[in-house]
Formats: sequence, structure tokens, C-alpha cells
Amino acid sequence: MNRAHNFCSGPCTLPVSVLERLAADIVDYQGSGMSLLEMSHRSDIYDRVHHHTIDLLRRVCAVPDEFNILLLQGGASLQFAMIPMNLLGPGRSAGYVLSGTWGKGAYADASRIGEAYVAWDGNDSGFTTMPAASDLEVRPGVDYIHTTSNETIGGVRMPDLFGLDVPQVIDMSSDFLTRPIPWDNYDVVYGGAQKNLGPAGLTIVFVRKTALDQAPPDLPKYLDLAVHAKTDSLANTPPMFSIWATGLMLEWIIEQGGIEAMNAAADLRSGMVYDTIDASDGFYRSPVAVDVRSKCNMVWRIADGPGDIDLEAKFLAEAEDLSLLNLKGHRSVGGIRSSIYNGLPTSSVQALVDFMTEFASTNSKQ
Ligand SMILES: Cc1ncc(COP(=O)(O)O)c(C=O)c1O
Repeated sequence: MNRAHNFCSGPCTLPVSVLERLAADIVDYQGSGMSLLEMSHRSDIYDRVHHHTIDLLRRVCAVPDEFNILLLQGGASLQFAMIPMNLLGPGRSAGYVLSGTWGKGAYADASRIGEAYVAWDGNDSGFTTMPAASDLEVRPGVDYIHTTSNETIGGVRMPDLFGLDVPQVIDMSSDFLTRPIPWDNYDVVYGGAQKNLGPAGLTIVFVRKTALDQAPPDLPKYLDLAVHAKTDSLANTPPMFSIWATGLMLEWIIEQGGIEAMNAAADLRSGMVYDTIDASDGFYRSPVAVDVRSKCNMVWRIADGPGDIDLEAKFLAEAEDLSLLNLKGHRSVGGIRSSIYNGLPTSSVQALVDFMTEFASTNSKQ
């Protein structure tokens, strides 16, 4: 098979070895006579798969015992609502950092549920910066402060996952498992699996045990985090395929050297793209402040060429001819974006930077 170089912002490229293991077992799961996709989620076989993935998450992310690991559905989007439903008490407040599209989305949903306020707003800089701890408005008695570690669309990343004197909640959807998590600083860490660790359909929520049981008694069952904690995420039918595939991806991450290796790879591979941008004499332009450039989603612009030629459209068309796919920036911001997640081979990043260098040299002369 001719593998495309897939820079999709999510769902992500998975290593071929992980896909092959899924393929080998998809029809007859390890000699059981049926596919895992057909099995009861109450069966012993599935139970082992389920707990294997939870155990590997605990090991790879070094999750302390004070946290429950929940395997849910509904994406990070559902957590935008579930977290305030569970943690934001009546007459109390939560501060939200608006660092881009996703921070704003989390704030919008929390505002529908309770007293959410803006603790920091990146609007003035066009969402090209991130705050330091001292920039935040932390109101006394606040239930929590919500941040987004990596804005997938704007390509900005919190360089420091700082602590505060109040509980914090963080959306790590797009840089999950590419950096260590300072657990002491958080009550909830959450994100979808579909960028750095598996296929779509699984949302992972790490929640501090002491943050549970604050939900109002009339909260519907699925929306209550404590229900999932008490049942090991087996209160209802879990996303079995995604949990299985994520377990295989976690095994692959361990083989590569764990989080440290993923962190080093993210440094190296994002560096290859930013070096190419910075060496292009202004042909490519990153809008993001250098110290907060994302290591998973790199965004850049190309100015129109002579005669108003749309060089971004030309770049994307020529890239596609070389099987360099999904490089179009998000429709809300335009430009170019490469998403480089754990499962993407470094050879794909090399193919991208080779093309970028060639394209700049051909088109800047015109
Ligand atoms: C940082 C971030 N938060 C939240 C979401 C929404 O995630 P989901 O599609 O899993 O609901 C995304 C999706 O791309 C994201 O990148």
C-alpha cells in the first residue's frame, strides 16, 4: 500500500503496526470465534481489553492513585458541558482562559450552565499568545480555572503547565501524551483520543477523586462523572473498538520509549517545520509568538505572489499531488496547518519540509 502523508488535525495517522494488529484480530478476536466488535461489553475477554487500556494509561501518563481514569464518549465537546455540570456549584464561579477556538468553546458551554467568567482573553493578540499564571484573574473562592494546553486551530501551546492556588481543569485534546502532566496542578485533565493516541470515539477524563461527588442529585446518570468512576467506565456500553485500538497504541508508545520519547519527537518534528519556516526569508510566515508555538499543530501563511497569484492554493494543490494531505488551515483562519501527532512517521515530516523548501525556492523567485 502506498501510504499517504496524512497531516490531518484529527482523527490522526496511526502507526501501520497498530493498524495491522487490529486487522489481524478484527474478524476473530484471538481465537474467540467472534470479533471484539460483536462481543458483550460484560464478557471476560472485553473486560481484560478494557482494564488493559486503563492500566496502560495509568502507567504511560504516570497517573497518581488519587485520580480515576474514565473512558467516555461524546468527545472533549461533551466535557465542555459535563465538567461545569459536575464541578461548578450553585452561586459559585469558574474562570476560563480564552486562548483560541477551543478555550472559547469550553467557556461558552460553561456559561450556559453556571457562573463562568473570562480569566484571560487572547483576543487582543489575535490568539497568538498564551498567558503566564500571573496574567490570570483568579477570583477568591473560584471552583476552578479552565485552560487549554494546545489550541489545535490557532497553533498556540502553553509552554508551562503552571500551578495556581485553586483547582484547575485542562483540555489536553491535541497534545495529550506528548508531554508530562504535572498532576499536582490539576483536578481534571481531559481530551479526545483521536489525535495522539487512537481512533475517534473515546474521550479520556482523568479526575481527582476528591473532585467527584459534587454533582447535583438531579443530574442525568451519564453526565455524572462519579457514576463512571464507580463503575470503571462500564455503566453503559463503552466505545469498545476505540478502547482496544488505544490500548494497542499505548503499547506502541511504550515500545518507542514512552512519554519522554513522544516529547522528544514532538520537539524534533515541530522544529523541522519551524526551521523551514524561519529559513524561508519571510516566504512562509508563522503568526504565532515563538515561545508559544505548538509542537503538534504548526500554522503558517504564504503571501500572494505577483499578479495576485494565490500561493497558498498552489501550495496545497502541489502538496496533494505528492500525497501530502490535509494541510489546509482550519476554515475559520485559513492558511496552512500541519498536524504532526505521535503516530505520524518522521519520514512524512521530512517529505513535507523537502516540499516546503522546494516550493519556496521556486515561487519566491517569480
Ligand atoms: C483542543 C480541543 N478541544 C476540544 C476539541 C473538541 O473535541 P471533540 O471533537 O473530541 O469533541 C478539539 C477538537 O479538535 C480540540 O482540538
